[in-house]
Amino acid sequence: MSDQTTNHKKLHIRTYGCQMNVYDSARMSDVLAPLGYVACDDAADADMVILNTCHIREKAAEKVYSELGRLRGHKEALAKGGRQMVIAVAGCVAQAEGAEVRRRAPWVDMVFGPQAYHQLPDMVQAAARGAGVVETDFPSEPKFDALPKAGGQGPSAFLTVQEGCDKFCTFCVVPYTRGAEYSRPVADVLAEARQLVATGAREITLLGQNVNAYHGESEDGSALSLGRLIAGLTDVDGLARLRYTTSHPLDMDEELISAHRDIDILMPYLHLPVQSGSDTILAAMNRRHRAQDYRRVVDILRASRPDIALSGDFIVGFPGETDQDFEDTLSLIRDVGYASAYSFKYSSRPGTTATAMENHVPEDVKAERLAVLQDLLDQQQVAFNQQSIGAEYEVLIEREGRRDGQMLGRSPYNQAVHVNGAIDAGIAIGDLVKVRVTSSHANSVAAEPLGAAENAA
Ligand code: SAH
Ligand code: SF4
Ligand code: F3S
Repeated sequence: MSDQTTNHKKLHIRTYGCQMNVYDSARMSDVLAPLGYVACDDAADADMVILNTCHIREKAAEKVYSELGRLRGHKEALAKGGRQMVIAVAGCVAQAEGAEVRRRAPWVDMVFGPQAYHQLPDMVQAAARGAGVVETDFPSEPKFDALPKAGGQGPSAFLTVQEGCDKFCTFCVVPYTRGAEYSRPVADVLAEARQLVATGAREITLLGQNVNAYHGESEDGSALSLGRLIAGLTDVDGLARLRYTTSHPLDMDEELISAHRDIDILMPYLHLPVQSGSDTILAAMNRRHRAQDYRRVVDILRASRPDIALSGDFIVGFPGETDQDFEDTLSLIRDVGYASAYSFKYSSRPGTTATAMENHVPEDVKAERLAVLQDLLDQQQVAFNQQSIGAEYEVLIEREGRRDGQMLGRSPYNQAVHVNGAIDAGIAIGDLVKVRVTSSHANSVAAEPLGAAENAA
């Protein structure tokens, strides 16, 4: 590109939180590449370190401050050798408490929220002059148009199609850290999908805090649902697999559910958080549906795509949660049956409505409930992996495995699959290979290749 690239600088980005942050980190690298920044693994030797942070639970936010403590040492060590380290805090902690970050860690040079990434080149220049930068305004136009083309993310790539959230669940900071709901226009999504495939992607995961609330503008000016966007993406040559995350039960509409029946590149896996199985708690959380509505959505989905694997998120110990409420959550989990799931102790977040509620649940009760719930979810995951022994399916190879000759990929159901003897069979990263599952573990399955690998497009 320009002569600037001859002057390499080392960039270390550390990503916390959800997949949207993973996508954003990739886009920040894209923005900084023309300024000569090249990725490096070692934070201690970096000219710029960006912490892309998460504010969802207290623990996630606190991690940032301990990491900033370590970085201070690295920055001082580099300064002794005459080098400058620019430290930046990006993401949701920056958005939620930018001023607090600068107060607690004055050695931070730049603080900017998720809507400001396209302004990075200007902010970098200001920081290099020694000016502290804080940028946490929500611009009237979201950043996407101003970002350069998306670069290669490998065989499995993320593509943000929707950002922000208008749901205001009473426990959640996302509407405050990411702002109002916004859907990218259909043409932009298609162009970026083609670009990702051209740079090596065979699978794309469409991302949004509420991805199934997607309603992007199409060529004729009308709004397109996620189900129809997915149908449109089947035209992208070379795209073999589609996924999307995260979905809200209220927005699982007919078009999206039938997409699971009709579109073969849409993988039979869905992350559909319910948070609680108690109607009292669901109402207090402002989830706007009852447990039986969720059960019904699951039934309709399974009628549409019988083998669909489900995943979910659960919060235990929301304010006011009784033993009976918790039992209701366990019985919903037993009825639905999850292939995998994430579960958390309720964490009180500044600025959210639930923080001001009465009857906060004591920590030890939360910890007990979490252990019981995780035990049940673990059993279900083990059972799901076990019943796939003997199954034959396609795996998208994403990287080399830890053991000799092994490669690692994902099954259609999003299981991690260790393919033994893959290198001997001539299998390479980016291949879609037929395998037979030979054994199962808690978090993965092992498999052997069947026949020759289909080569990457
Ligand atoms: N948009 C998604 C979730 C985004 S946050 C949805 O509506 O489901 C990811 C998960 O973090 C949530 O599903 C929830 O389970 C958890 N979470 C969010 N806020 C939390 C809090 N204050 N305490 C504990 N867990 C929380
Ligand atoms: Fe948070 Fe609820 Fe929005 Fe999900 S739907 S991001 S949990 S406010
Ligand atoms: Fe965390 Fe922000 Fe994602 S709070 S979960 S990084 S949207």
